[in-house]
Amino acid sequence: MKHLLKMLDLSTEEITKILDLADQLKYELKNNIPHRHLEGKTLGMIFQKSSTRTRVSFETGMYQLGGHPLFLSSKDLQIGRGEPVQDTARVLSRYLSGIMIRTFAQQEVDDLAKYGSIPIINGLTDFAHPCQVLADLMTIREYKNKLDGLKFCFVGDGNNMANSLTVGCLKTGMSVSLACPEGYHPPKEILDFAKGYGDKFEIVSDPVKAAENADVIYTDVWASMGQEGEAEKRRKAFAGYQVNDAVMAAARPDAIVQHCLPAHREEEITEKVFEAHANEIFDEAENRLHAQKAVMVLLMK
Ligand code: CP
Ligand code: NVA
Repeated sequence: MKHLLKMLDLSTEEITKILDLADQLKYELKNNIPHRHLEGKTLGMIFQKSSTRTRVSFETGMYQLGGHPLFLSSKDLQIGRGEPVQDTARVLSRYLSGIMIRTFAQQEVDDLAKYGSIPIINGLTDFAHPCQVLADLMTIREYKNKLDGLKFCFVGDGNNMANSLTVGCLKTGMSVSLACPEGYHPPKEILDFAKGYGDKFEIVSDPVKAAENADVIYTDVWASMGQEGEAEKRRKAFAGYQVNDAVMAAARPDAIVQHCLPAHREEEITEKVFEAHANEIFDEAENRLHAQKAVMVLLMK
């Protein structure tokens, strides 16, 4: 593993290795056991979109590992004024030990990896959010003590989260049911991958059907960052694609709820379901820290 660009690139063994190390680092942090694996290393964090969790968990995680994080807003970098990614990649490779980038096009992340010579970590693109999915898998494993054999249900937009979750869950032995409205299915690349898993994958239009006997119910916003102009149109298209009591009644009684956050209450999830499952959702947010520390150690040590 040289980079973390998207879940499609990871083998099941690599995912398990990250999750196992994440569990260990979480244990070490909780028990004040030093784990300064990245002393003297620097991580550049390029943000072209807003962030609370990704920024704070990477920055804190790097500090806990003994390294130094640099927050680089694209507004301040020359990349925001048109300096090519190829040049930015080659320059930053001379200074830094690794780069985390949050941006729009997956191609930009892939190009950083292609032209640079240091590990690149995708902190969210329009196509993928692998850091979030590693934290999600870690959380599901904490609650269910396994991944293999579970049923995972996602309700909502066939977006970066649906894409990465579909791949991550299938690769770790879960079955995946997506409930997405027509016109908002994941892209062909993801559907082609999922088809290889036969009846372990389905995409339906009814959220209650997708949730039947599910162990995990997941949802995300109807309009992602960059889609603010479509918010009204999307509110209409996604009406009914909400995690609510009816969806929860179809799932297993011990089902957990996950949300990558930020959440829009009474849109993709009701306040009631959100608050009833808040512990699971905030454990998930916490696990961003531990999962990303594992990724940084494996890529940068
Ligand atoms: N879930 C997530 O990536 O949150 P931020 O946008 O706050 O980083
Ligand atoms: N799909 C959301 C995820 C945010 C973490 C977005 O891209 O805005």
